[in-house]
Amino acid sequence: MEPASCPNLTKHEGKVSYKDRCRNLNQPGLVIWFTGLSGSGKSTIAVELEYRLLKQNKAVYRLDGDNIRYGLNNDLGFSETDRFENLRRIAEVAALIKDAGLIVLVGSISPYRQMRDFARQKVGGDNFVEVFVRAAIETCAIRDPKGLYDKAKKGEIKDFTGISAPYEEPLNPEIIIDTDQLTINESVDLVWEYLENKLTLEVEK
Ligand SMILES: Nc1ncnc2c1ncn2[C@@H]1O[C@H](COP(=O)(O)OP(=O)(O)O)[C@@H](O)[C@H]1O
Ligand SMILES: [Mg+2]
Repeated sequence: MEPASCPNLTKHEGKVSYKDRCRNLNQPGLVIWFTGLSGSGKSTIAVELEYRLLKQNKAVYRLDGDNIRYGLNNDLGFSETDRFENLRRIAEVAALIKDAGLIVLVGSISPYRQMRDFARQKVGGDNFVEVFVRAAIETCAIRDPKGLYDKAKKGEIKDFTGISAPYEEPLNPEIIIDTDQLTINESVDLVWEYLENKLTLEVEK
């Protein structure tokens, strides 16, 4: 679709296609999208999974929402408008890296269904895996790995997901991980098992 703000644009096609790149890498491009409350375990699981995939010679890249706020998204805060823009950019970048043939691990609270649906549509349904990293907010607050719940409860952080801003649970995610019942290793195993099938099926296509 032609961007409204920039008329007179034409896409310049290359000689190398997405399929060509996948053939070279011997893998499909995928986006594994981890959503869940702060402290639910998105980053922890993505870090371990990235390491496992790398050891299997997969081309993988991790896009952690917090890290992206240091650079590309350092002009954005946590209002609803900024959260949507944050997610729009992450989804666009993830779709590009997937198009390069890589497996992209996105860890981002992404609290609104509409955001995650946008990302799924941007990437393309077959190549998008939504992972709901689920833990009770009480568990997340006890873990409080970044001390944010403590600050939020004192009113020092406004628009804090689960406390003063909404989190819309996924209705139909590909994977649900109950991190208050599983170990970190068991949590990674769940995604790993799903991916083993997915990687084979997509390469055979
Ligand atoms: N099954 C699990 N999966 C992931 N993290 C877990 C699990 N069990 C306990 N944890 C702990 O929960 C915390 C999750 O923090 P983090 O990964 O930074 O969350 P998020 O990125 O979702 O904000 C870590 O301290 C981690 O060790
Ligand atoms: Mg994180």
